[in-house]
Amino acid sequence: MGDAQTTFIMIKPDGVQRGLVDEIIGRFEGIGLRMLGRHDLTPSLELAEAHYAIHRERPFYSDLVEFVTSGPVVAMAWNGEDAIAASRKLIGATDWREAEPGTIRADFARSIERNLIHGSDGEDTAAFELGLWFPDGLED
Ligand code: RTP
Ligand code: MG
Repeated sequence: MGDAQTTFIMIKPDGVQRGLVDEIIGRFEGIGLRMLGRHDLTPSLELAEAHYAIHRERPFYSDLVEFVTSGPVVAMAWNGEDAIAASRKLIGATDWREAEPGTIRADFARSIERNLIHGSDGEDTAAFELGLWFPDGLED
């Protein structure tokens, strides 16, 4: 058995605009994770830059920041056993062509850049991202 973890999940502007919020939330509920926090917001430039700071030197960085600040996102914290890896598995590979069948990106994304959803990729990133997006903390 793995440990209980909390991970940061964000439905990106394309997911919101395409009406996939309920579908995506249903999939997280379906694997038994519990939502500890949610807020819907259009991220500020500062927030998006901090969130994606690790990609600052990558060629796609400015497009990524512009995209994620282009409209409302759904920022969420999900808790449960192995929540970080379980969520990444549910989301699927960055490139939808490589994503396992049945994953969110395989089922709905048709672009690497517009891939619907973000999930923390490790314990350190999850802690950093949860602190960034939920500065007032989370429910227990
Ligand atoms: P995420 O952080 O959003 O959960 O996605 P990820 O771990 O699967 O992918 P990552 O390598 O962290 O990249 C972050 C986001 O940048 C965009 N991207 N574009 N044009 C490109 O080659 C490219 N590569 C990455 C995607 O939106 C990706 O989710
Ligand atoms: Mg990533």
